[in-house]
Amino acid sequence: MAKQFDVAVIGAGAAGMMCAAVAAQQGKRVVVIDHAAKLAEKIRISGGGRCNFTNTHAGPQNFLSENPHFCKSALSRYTPQDFLALVKKHRIGYHEKHKGQQFCNDSAEQIIEMLKDECAAGDVHWRMPCKIEQLERRDDGSFFLQTDSGEIEAANVVIASGGLSIPKIGATDFAYRIAKQFGLGMIEPRPALVPLTFDAASWAPFAELSGIALEVDVETGSLKGRKATGARFREDLLFTHRGLSGPAILQISSFWQPGTPIIINLLPEVDLAQTLIEGKGSLKKQLGNIVAQWLPERLAACLLTVHGLAADARLADMPDAQLRKLGQAINAWSIVPNGSEGYRKAEVTRGGIDTRELSQQTMMANKVPGLYFIGESVDVTGWLGGYNFQWAWASGMAAGLAL
Ligand code: FDA
Repeated sequence: MAKQFDVAVIGAGAAGMMCAAVAAQQGKRVVVIDHAAKLAEKIRISGGGRCNFTNTHAGPQNFLSENPHFCKSALSRYTPQDFLALVKKHRIGYHEKHKGQQFCNDSAEQIIEMLKDECAAGDVHWRMPCKIEQLERRDDGSFFLQTDSGEIEAANVVIASGGLSIPKIGATDFAYRIAKQFGLGMIEPRPALVPLTFDAASWAPFAELSGIALEVDVETGSLKGRKATGARFREDLLFTHRGLSGPAILQISSFWQPGTPIIINLLPEVDLAQTLIEGKGSLKKQLGNIVAQWLPERLAACLLTVHGLAADARLADMPDAQLRKLGQAINAWSIVPNGSEGYRKAEVTRGGIDTRELSQQTMMANKVPGLYFIGESVDVTGWLGGYNFQWAWASGMAAGLAL
């Protein structure tokens, strides 16, 4: 005999648990199904184990989507302050780290426990680990799920199975397969918030800089006009053996289009060419020492070598044109990544279920009454800094209230 539920939520991650708790506390009979044995692994590893669970500045401007308006409704109805109120209710200590980013003082486990408690308050049922073998919509509009731990019938199904990043901890394309099964459109998924890589030959001189970090401005794409496709961030950059990482690069990776350059200002506070040209009379030191005043020594030395300049050259002897070239190389370093570290290292997946297929109020598929998509499965991708969890909470809440 199939077990009967009002709602089957597939995916016990951030969005799924929020949605299940809200629907269940409104009196719905809810089951949450996840193929993983461990609950909410992504929350557990997030924010270096302390979960950057929201960002107090979160607004539609912090999200990428083919339809930037789609996220407005859910985000405005469940705000970072609402989530902070829930965190306070559960007496979880938290602090702001940087630019509105809110972290647990102790452990991300506290957020998982909080969501579990909220689910328990609504008497949510669990099926974990549980594999879904088949999901069908019957003629009467209800859903039938064949799982490896029995049959389930549900009036509504919420797909909260996330995106493709970090397959090692259970990410699958389940949401995309269900979208395809029901004829719903997709925006091509690709890794986002991900380190960028360069071909081995062009990266060889920089590989030895692995471990060096510094604050930079980084930009890509066009920043002009109402249809601007690019972005610019001031954050820390980290050199790695294979390329570039750190918050600056993760942020820009979501906007980067293959084949195009990223432009990095390694010295955002100094107009290097102008400073060097004007300082020819007063800056007596050798070029290497001058540049190393502002940049890590190993980086300064490497950049001079790459540009064929001797570290012991006397500034006063250098032609202005050469100094301008060096200034350009440091204030506007233009490099074309050959790719990214992929889903293995990406924090999120850009793209997903096309928002034109969903109601922005309820997250229900327009063509398939009773079928909902929430969280990262949807083509709404946040910047780095707690925005992706805020979308998971807000979209989970929007669906939970509508069920
Ligand atoms: P989520 O991925 O959380 O949950 C999906 C669930 O579905 C999983 O439990 C999975 O096992 C299950 N599932 C998948 N396929 C299934 C199938 N076929 N059958 C059944 N179940 C299935 N964001 C942020 O705002 N602040 C942060 O600090 C971080 N930090 C961070 C660190 C790292 C290393 C990563 C990888 C990601 C982050 N993120 C983040 C992003 C954030 O974790 C992510 O956006 C949310 O977890 C998305 O929530 P969802 O509920 O949509 O998916």
